[in-house]
Amino acid sequence: MYLVRRNRILRTNASIRNLVAETTLTPNDFIAPLFIDEGEGVEVEIASMPNYYRRSIDLTIKEVKELWSLGIKSVLLFIKCKDELKDNTGKEAWNPDGLMQRTIKAIKNAIPEMIVMTDVALDPYSIYGHDGIVENGEIVNDPTVEALAKMSLSHAQAGADFVAPSDMMDGRIGIIRKILEHHDYTKTGIMSYSAKYASCFYGPFRDALDSAPGFGDKKTYQMDYANRKEAIRETLIDIEEGADIVMIKPAMAYLDIIREIKNTVDVPVSAYHVSGEYAMIKAAAERGWLNEEKAILESLTSIKRAGADLIATYFAKDAAKLLNK
Ligand code: PBG
Repeated sequence: MYLVRRNRILRTNASIRNLVAETTLTPNDFIAPLFIDEGEGVEVEIASMPNYYRRSIDLTIKEVKELWSLGIKSVLLFIKCKDELKDNTGKEAWNPDGLMQRTIKAIKNAIPEMIVMTDVALDPYSIYGHDGIVENGEIVNDPTVEALAKMSLSHAQAGADFVAPSDMMDGRIGIIRKILEHHDYTKTGIMSYSAKYASCFYGPFRDALDSAPGFGDKKTYQMDYANRKEAIRETLIDIEEGADIVMIKPAMAYLDIIREIKNTVDVPVSAYHVSGEYAMIKAAAERGWLNEEKAILESLTSIKRAGADLIATYFAKDAAKLLNK
């Protein structure tokens, strides 16, 4: 045979493969989501997320120090609100002494360089488990946006570096930017969940925070997974309204969307490898059906290859350890 192109030459051994690899994963790419609980010395494993925990602030600080030492530069905070503080206004969300606000301060105090991002949505605080205020069985947009703005401002006041609105209400990025500007929080970033789909892959997360919707589903605000152009529209609007980073969520069933948005926008793109995606790999690995370490690295690399500059993933710590080996 006389071949002009022998594609296998560049695959001959690990050295040449590494030299020509188009995508490299580093701990700098990761955002580590953390679930926070009240109390002290609390560490509860999430039933549907093996080896992932909800922790009180003291143990969270320990964890964040470890993440920092592994090269992870960012955490994304979610809190579990006590039942007695839940209502239909979400007012606990902007309590200056709330669990979220105390956690932000504690982390920024202990590891000032760690970028602290906070989830902004009403579901953990809502008696209905919805991301917004409910009136006559409907999730009402404009009053919810007002609440989210107050919530974002209070996170900024506590020291958050980025607020991350995950609610999918219309117009919230603009109003959040406006309230931050109005109060002189000119250094607080907004990472918008711009294309967040109504997905079954959030199930384990809702176990972690006890935040499953009490009635109906989230399809009147989160996107229909049949849609692609709508994701572009949503994302461009968020950028116009002031988003610094945009996000696509979930990740692996939406790699086409990640790529399309990456090709369309000029701000950093992040993707959220969600709880159900974590659970799938864990469950298969537990049964010996998948090699966990390989599945983690292949999954995260595929998300980066699709176009994500940043990846929020429950595997952040595991992957950083594997990459640092
Ligand atoms: C809250 C929120 C959810 C997730 C992130 N922020 C749940 C939801 O929208 O129901 C899901 C994260 C995950 O599944 O890992 N608005």
